[in-house]
Amino acid sequence: MIRYSNPSLKLENARQNSGKVAWRSPSNIALVKYWGKYGLQLPRNPSVSLTLSASYTETTLAFLPRQQASKARFDKKISLEFYFEDQPAPAFEAKIEKFLESLLPIFPFLADLHLEIFSHNSFPHSAGIASSASSMAALALCLCSMEEVLFGTTLTQDDFYQKASFLARLGSGSAARSIHGRAVIWGKTSKQWETSEEWGVPFEALHPIFEDYQDTILLIHEGEKSVSSRAGHALMNQNPFSAIRYEQAHKHAVLMLEALQSGDLEKFIDITEKEAFVLHALMMVSEPSFVLMKPNTLRAIEAIQFFRQQTQIPICFTLDAGPNVHILYPKSYQERVLPFIKSELAPLAHHSKYILDQVSEGSIALD
Ligand code: PMV
Repeated sequence: MIRYSNPSLKLENARQNSGKVAWRSPSNIALVKYWGKYGLQLPRNPSVSLTLSASYTETTLAFLPRQQASKARFDKKISLEFYFEDQPAPAFEAKIEKFLESLLPIFPFLADLHLEIFSHNSFPHSAGIASSASSMAALALCLCSMEEVLFGTTLTQDDFYQKASFLARLGSGSAARSIHGRAVIWGKTSKQWETSEEWGVPFEALHPIFEDYQDTILLIHEGEKSVSSRAGHALMNQNPFSAIRYEQAHKHAVLMLEALQSGDLEKFIDITEKEAFVLHALMMVSEPSFVLMKPNTLRAIEAIQFFRQQTQIPICFTLDAGPNVHILYPKSYQERVLPFIKSELAPLAHHSKYILDQVSEGSIALD
């Protein structure tokens, strides 16, 4: 039985049957990477991330009884209109429809509603920034808010966020971490921290230096990813290094949480950069193999490491499953780092583009 399954949530029992809810959820950047999964989107190893602020998705969900909607679809289990940047988006719509169908045991009332979903990203879709984390987190929060509008508030705030993180995970694993702000852990760790494979948990003991940590995202190459994360995760099942990797990730998660608690930037940098390299190394040795870095990715990495060596400024990089480079540094060094980014790194980016982002409070409900 799926957690949160509630067959009694029928539209006929709702206290009101239409409304509109909206959430903004930021993207997150993994420091310890989730790469490899099993079962229903459960991670093979714990991951740790920082939640961003400038890169976000805003989602509005309007709902009314299916019988009353002029555009209702009665030939489908889910009656849905999906708009991305105010345009109908059939490819996304099909994906969301499938996701919502899978949630019917949790939200049986979805069968009796017509839904209109409007989604907007703060960053261009083609920028190569993963939007599944922010978009699935915002959608999951909208679904939980819709349930509250329909049936009243039954969950504590903590349980509300836990449920949203659980639902977001079913849509996209890393989305489980975009519900909460600052630093988030998802997956079981071997140490004292209480964590879960089913939802992300905020890391409460975060050292203040990380609360406004900077992440400047260098857009090396814009465009769709050459391998979907679904395919990438699946490749881990055959990867000859997967067992060693999962063991390493467990160790890295503990070391990273220790660094996030103590503010030990040397340890933070060491683990962060190792994790970026190992993610890409795993893809390079997969069958088939993928090289997701571009020549300018490596040039940027080299320049960042050289700058750190020369200046002793605690700047480092991480990578997602693509060529863009996330440049991480404490806010107090911003004045010294930004001129370096502008003069040395921006020329390596596509049209010299980068996004100035930083750690945030997490998702927020919109009016
Ligand atoms: O959430 P997914 O299935 O798109 O996987 C994300 C995987 C990485 O972004 C590469 C790493 C991570 O932990 O976010």
